[in-house]
Amino acid sequence: MKSQVFTVDAASWRPNCDPQAIQALEDGKVLYFPRLGFALSPQEQALLRPGLQAEGARNISLDAQGRLKGVAGDAAVQAAAGALISRFSASATSLVNSLFPDYAVYLRAAPASLRPIEVSTRRQSWRADDRRLHVDAFPSRPNRGERILRVFANINPRGEPRSWRIGEPFADMAKRFLPQVRPYSPLKARLLDKLGITKSLRSEYDHLMLQLHDAMKSDDRYQREAPQQAMDFPAGTAWVCFSDQTSHAAMSGQHMLEQTFHLPVDRQYNREASPLGLLTALAGHSLI
Ligand code: SIN
Ligand code: FE
Repeated sequence: MKSQVFTVDAASWRPNCDPQAIQALEDGKVLYFPRLGFALSPQEQALLRPGLQAEGARNISLDAQGRLKGVAGDAAVQAAAGALISRFSASATSLVNSLFPDYAVYLRAAPASLRPIEVSTRRQSWRADDRRLHVDAFPSRPNRGERILRVFANINPRGEPRSWRIGEPFADMAKRFLPQVRPYSPLKARLLDKLGITKSLRSEYDHLMLQLHDAMKSDDRYQREAPQQAMDFPAGTAWVCFSDQTSHAAMSGQHMLEQTFHLPVDRQYNREASPLGLLTALAGHSLI
């Protein structure tokens, strides 16, 4: 497999626009910034302990309205955790606005998160297990092709990497699994919407993305034998990808910051390269 990682040499959260990086991103590659660290103050470093996360929470998040979730601790701890995530959110926003200037006004920030839990030993159902190669797709939030752009920074204080596996290009994965996915049922989609199980009507696109997510994760042989590369993101580095397109699995690592953005599919430089563009071409009919 050709490398699915594109290295960007920038050392600033406000780098110059780089057309090659844009093309690599839209081709589904991970943009890797080996010189782009998100430095923490000693007070911020002191927050990095597993006990920071409230029991039962999947991660710690701060939404665009400033609502903080998932922190255990008193008001001072809450404020410090919120301030750290907010500071990262500002850096991540500056990074994507500088790198992808044509996206800038169309990006919508989803919650940012702090992930203080070691991922290698987390026990989860196969469907929730992000140690299995997958593309991101969310059962309750149909997005009709809207993109999921994510910025990650490894802030591990002991110098431990975040270890990912990165899988084959989206079109190869889709061609492999589409023949076996369950067909879309408009009736079922309406029912899920009526019952409030989905936040809006699940389109055929959303159905296919979920089916692909599940088909990948549930296939042990695919997990072992699919084209893939191991990628360790060292502490003090950052990376960016369209996680609805890039096949990824997080194998180990602790303490990461992450910011998600949504982008209307029509605001990409090349719409045809998106999962919606690729799946529509493979299906031969409109999916939204
Ligand atoms: C994921 O989005 O699958 C998880 C990424 C990570 O925890 O590194
Ligand atoms: Fe994921």
